[in-house]
Amino acid sequence: MVFSPDSIQMAVAPTEGASKAASLPRHVAIVMDGNGRWAQERFLPRTAGHRAGVGAVRKVVEHCAKRGVEALTLFAFSSENWRRPEQEVSVLMELFLSTLERETEKLHQNGVRLRVIGDRSAFAEALRERMDAAEALTRHNTGLQLSIAANYGGRWDIVQAAQALAAAVRQGELSPELVTPELLQQHLALADLPEPDLFIRTGGERRISNFLLWQLAYTELYFTPVLWPEFDESALELAFEDYAGRQRRFGYTGDQVAEQLP
Ligand code: IPE
Ligand code: IPE
Ligand code: MG
Repeated sequence: MVFSPDSIQMAVAPTEGASKAASLPRHVAIVMDGNGRWAQERFLPRTAGHRAGVGAVRKVVEHCAKRGVEALTLFAFSSENWRRPEQEVSVLMELFLSTLERETEKLHQNGVRLRVIGDRSAFAEALRERMDAAEALTRHNTGLQLSIAANYGGRWDIVQAAQALAAAVRQGELSPELVTPELLQQHLALADLPEPDLFIRTGGERRISNFLLWQLAYTELYFTPVLWPEFDESALELAFEDYAGRQRRFGYTGDQVAEQLP
């Protein structure tokens, strides 16, 4: 490994040596946005867009697994999405439940490990049980590592890690000087996965909307106007192509990085 002094070990952890982006991202994180507008363009209720979005999820999961992407993290419901009309939130909850019921077994057969990240205490018991069951069933699978972010917020994630460290300090198990970025990172969601190499947001907005704030520190960002229900294998391939052309520098100069290319 040529390019990863300890100071940036965490940032470059995803790849062996920071240099030109490996042609395929190991970990892809997606903000699946634009369902409501897709429906409105068709004079349909916003919830029809969410239903149509499930098809795009299936395509993207299957395509990532086929291409050998190691980890895929999908933003399904943010900690701020509770602000939406009650009826929309309730359709989204129904869709999570029915999709988990319908798809878990197939994911398992395909070696996918499924987990849900976020504060699930706010979900109904039936949904929490489904999430637990899907995680338990697939926990030893070594294929695609699929994480669904539901009632997730990047700030919440950092706060719950900080709380874990504070509790350890209070118990006398940790002293405050030993709190480092590496230690805090170990308490975040997805701590066991390489950090995302590629962030994709569909629907045209160019913002993070409180997705993986910490984990995206050195992620390549890609924005597309394609609305989520229309995002498919070829749209994903365009994002991969764009990513493959990027030079990831992690603070080095472009020349330093170029010199280290094989
Ligand atoms: C993303 O699509 C899905 C969720 C946030 C649950 P939106 O529902 O935000 O779609 P737009 O942005 O209103 O078009
Ligand atoms: C982000 O989309 C959350 C998800 C896709 C789940 P939003 O539609 O909620 O984001 P904002 O409100 O436009 O920033
Ligand atoms: Mg939106």
